[in-house]
Amino acid sequence: HLHIDHATPEKVEAALSEGHFHPEIPAYETFEAYRAAGGYEKLSELRKSGDWKAVQGQVAASGLRGLGGAGFPSGRKWEFVRANPGLRYLAVNGDEGEPGTFKDRYYLERTPHLMLEGMLIAAWAVEAEKCFIYMRDEYPAVLEILRREIAALEEAGIVLPGEVELRRGAGAYICGEESAMIESIEGKRGIPRLRPPYVAAVGIFDRPTLVHNVETLHWVARVLREGPEILSSTEKNGRKGLRSYSVSGRVAKPGVYLLPAGSTITDIIEACGGMAEGHSFKAYQPGGPSSGLLPASMHDVPLDFDTLQPHGTFIGSAAVVLLSDKDSAKQAALNMLRFFESESCGQCTPCRVGCEKAVKLMQADRWDRDLLEDLCQVMGDASICGLGQAAPNPIRLTMKHFPEEV
Ligand code: NAI
Ligand code: SF4
Repeated sequence: HLHIDHATPEKVEAALSEGHFHPEIPAYETFEAYRAAGGYEKLSELRKSGDWKAVQGQVAASGLRGLGGAGFPSGRKWEFVRANPGLRYLAVNGDEGEPGTFKDRYYLERTPHLMLEGMLIAAWAVEAEKCFIYMRDEYPAVLEILRREIAALEEAGIVLPGEVELRRGAGAYICGEESAMIESIEGKRGIPRLRPPYVAAVGIFDRPTLVHNVETLHWVARVLREGPEILSSTEKNGRKGLRSYSVSGRVAKPGVYLLPAGSTITDIIEACGGMAEGHSFKAYQPGGPSSGLLPASMHDVPLDFDTLQPHGTFIGSAAVVLLSDKDSAKQAALNMLRFFESESCGQCTPCRVGCEKAVKLMQADRWDRDLLEDLCQVMGDASICGLGQAAPNPIRLTMKHFPEEV
């Protein structure tokens, strides 16, 4: 498995000697290095004589699913986009705003060209005229890396000037919601649109748009370069594939861990070298604040798409946060709702007012369970987008699994 390397004076020195003049830019695989190792050969082969259906078949055989969090089968999206005539676009969602998620950054700071080649392959597959990369401004090193490497692609004639456009997000969590991201790319305030129509039919400037997360595209390139088995050959607890878990909280070695998709929290803690010293495992957030908290007693559930639904939650972008006996589940849930209150775009009442009311109710010594459940129902049923719909999860799961605290 992989683990984040922290910057050391030696690594900074090495980066500087390789021509990376900004000490915060990690020593990543440049265009020259990627190309020397066979990079962009697959793209050029496909552009000459590729069959997009065959490529889609390989992606489907690998079992690749959308790794922004929703797990939608990746190749199927291509079909939806292609079904719509006219000028098409592709957008890369790099607005990795889910608290606890840092895997996209991890990959972009090391092997940016896997994402870039995956993006150009997907753009070729849906005949997209232009690619927009929407990258969060909180990742300055990634932005600089992408600026340099897109310029290298233009210089090498792999893309035309302006064919790949880098756009900066400005710190709003909601701009990671795909339709809000599209509004933002269009230069408007980023607020979610009603779906349907899906962005596959009506996306950027009303054009059919293929939206993929950064890590999804990283795997598109790897699947095509190395074969679908790179994902499909790993099996654990009845689940196939690999997941990049971003792990933080009370563990000895937080970081990004590439593990089998059927891994349980026990496997993840083990990969992290156990719990941090002096901490015993109490609870965990399996996939971002919208997935709420599960108790340590649920240590044997595979953490993958579909496996958490029966427990009232989901894996999302696999942002795993570990809590210990030194932490309060009630305070953690309140913190999650404060985040949603602050990040709600305010467009619809159940979410805007619901998050605010939930925070007030959750600050009480004892939670009014009936009132909170009533509020959760309204928010889940009537909010426009995933933020308001999933915000009740931390409330419900805390009431269910940590009743003594609330
Ligand atoms: P979704 O399931 O509604 O959609 C997933 C994707 O499939 C979208 O691109 C959508 O356009 C497409 N799609 C779904 N049905 C379709 C249809 N019938 N026709 C054409 N396209 C269709 O999920 P959503 O709301 O896009 O994402 C929710 C997830 O995002 C959550 O699981 C959450 O964990 C994750 N998330 C991730 C963040 C991050 O930083 N990585 C931040 C916040 C949330
Ligand atoms: Fe905005 Fe919340 Fe409504 Fe989503 S659910 S559109 S974030 S107010």
